[in-house]
Amino acid sequence: MIIGIIGAMDIEVKELISSMADIKKETVSGIDFYQGKLEDKKVVVAECGIGKVYAAVCAQTMILKYEPDIIINTGVAGSLSTDLRIGDIVISDGVVQHDYDASPIGIPPGMISGINLIKVPCNEELVKKLVQAAQVLKDTNVAAGTVASGDQFICSKEKKDCIATTFDALCVEMEGAAIGHACYINKVDFCIIRAMSDMADGSAHMDFDTFVEIAVEKTILIIKNFLRQI
Ligand code: ADE
Repeated sequence: MIIGIIGAMDIEVKELISSMADIKKETVSGIDFYQGKLEDKKVVVAECGIGKVYAAVCAQTMILKYEPDIIINTGVAGSLSTDLRIGDIVISDGVVQHDYDASPIGIPPGMISGINLIKVPCNEELVKKLVQAAQVLKDTNVAAGTVASGDQFICSKEKKDCIATTFDALCVEMEGAAIGHACYINKVDFCIIRAMSDMADGSAHMDFDTFVEIAVEKTILIIKNFLRQI
């Protein structure tokens, strides 16, 4: 069993990489892949860069070169729900691309051509295991639901409300749905773990800088607990 783990930014994966044993690093298409062991389980960890194209390239490369059984995307997100405050956790039960929009030609917003899905589903068992693993966190709200991704940092109430209502999504980020799309077409199970770094509103850019580190720490604890339990 090989677990693939992808984070967009250095801060989202560096703690995982420094906790790994027997590390072997390879760079493909400018993306660093770290093979090794974490909590005694075989993993491959990559920092993909910000945005959907980097994320999809990373997931596809990881699948073809390292053949992971599952891919977990970890990192931070902007909350779309008043029930999810900064530091709370979303585990995806599916992902949507909020900026994939061919609606002017009669296709519903978010509908991905070819696979004809708006929400790409995660494996239910995997979602359950990650929700379970997240119970390691104290005083933290953990919700399973839709993660929305797009090539935009969302920092306005208007935009956030539009994404939340169009897609019934709990949080917004910039990679998860691209990784989910790549995994889906390759028949690889995937799930997204995101800690809320901001509320995707007018204060999001300031909150992000203040809370990103605290939020990332929580996702690391979940991943390590998950690896111990499988
Ligand atoms: N990642 C963290 N916060 C975000 C936001 N508000 N929009 C998009 N990606 C994010």
